[in-house]
Amino acid sequence: MTTLITGGAGYIGSITARAIRASGRAVVVLDTLENGHRKAVGDAPFVQADVADADAVRRTVEEHGVDEVVHFAAYKAVGESMENPGKYFANNVTGSQKLFEVLHTCGVERVVFSSTAAVYGTPSRVPVRETDAANCESVYAETKLMIEKTLGWYSRTTGMRSVCLRYFNAAGASDDATLGEDWRFSQNLVPHVMKAVLGRSPALKVFGNDWPTPDGTGVRDYIHVEDLATAHVAALDHLSSGGASVTCNVGTGQGTSVLEVIAATERIAGRKVPHEIVGRRAGDVSEVFADASLIRGLFGWEPRRHLDDIISSAYAWHSANPDGHPS
Ligand SMILES: NC(=O)c1ccc[n+]([C@@H]2O[C@H](COP(=O)([O-])OP(=O)(O)OC[C@H]3O[C@@H](n4cnc5c(N)ncnc54)[C@H](O)[C@@H]3O)[C@@H](O)[C@H]2O)c1
Repeated sequence: MTTLITGGAGYIGSITARAIRASGRAVVVLDTLENGHRKAVGDAPFVQADVADADAVRRTVEEHGVDEVVHFAAYKAVGESMENPGKYFANNVTGSQKLFEVLHTCGVERVVFSSTAAVYGTPSRVPVRETDAANCESVYAETKLMIEKTLGWYSRTTGMRSVCLRYFNAAGASDDATLGEDWRFSQNLVPHVMKAVLGRSPALKVFGNDWPTPDGTGVRDYIHVEDLATAHVAALDHLSSGGASVTCNVGTGQGTSVLEVIAATERIAGRKVPHEIVGRRAGDVSEVFADASLIRGLFGWEPRRHLDDIISSAYAWHSANPDGHPS
């Protein structure tokens, strides 16, 4: 069994590629390296190409005997997507559509797709369920919903089956701290906390301590990237055993506040995280966490790591790679 991993030189893709190999599959990674790192691919077969390059994708599928795909390749910066929507529609939506069409014509019928909890926008309730309305508040989120819908139509009209995984807040580094997030490309809280604690940035800004949450700061669902990786393996297993197309939340089901992330970091690093409370940021919401019962029930998947594992792996990774990326 060979799995094509698009975007497998990036943060989540590189760590998931290892988990997929550990499950007994062969892999081939396809990535432009625009936001990824060749080093993160290790000794896995690698093709430097764009998912929109139909010839390169077809060649890769044929030469490696690809049976299934995990599709990570995308741009992910929410702010940039609002400033330059065309860049996001072209790369994320058009690129994915071209990829799916080549897969379809080559007879590759199983796809796991990186979607996002951002499709829910400001949720009307927490925990958020898959059946709750999508309400995209950014071009980025809209591109992901459009790709989900595209896969939905391929499922209805062809033999293609897919699992769309709506990640909550991916965080942490690989358990051995050799792969992790590049903080130059990340808008996420944990890399910002790491920059602050390692003296690589001015004080961390905490946007509001007057939210209706237990300590007043924003609450999110942080999912360890290694647990996210095993969710992809479970999704591939589901499809290869004949499972139907489905869209699942991937989160822990537990909310963690910004101050709890800071406190865990200070405990694990043994140093203070310089931070200041500033006003709420436009567009933020108080609390978002997943109802993860669908993926638990359907795939038997369980997150095994906790906030301290996220922080200790991220701290080890960023301490060893102080420029924020693999050196
Ligand atoms: N990081 C998160 O918290 C998070 C949350 C929800 C969803 N996601 C989604 O998960 C996926 C992976 O996220 P990540 O954090 O690992 O991002 P990342 O930027 O580290 O990885 C994406 C990789 O895709 C590559 N790429 C981009 N466009 C490409 C194209 N057209 N062809 C080939 N390669 C291309 C980049 O070079 C990069 O290596 C993305 O689709 C992202 O939208 C991430």
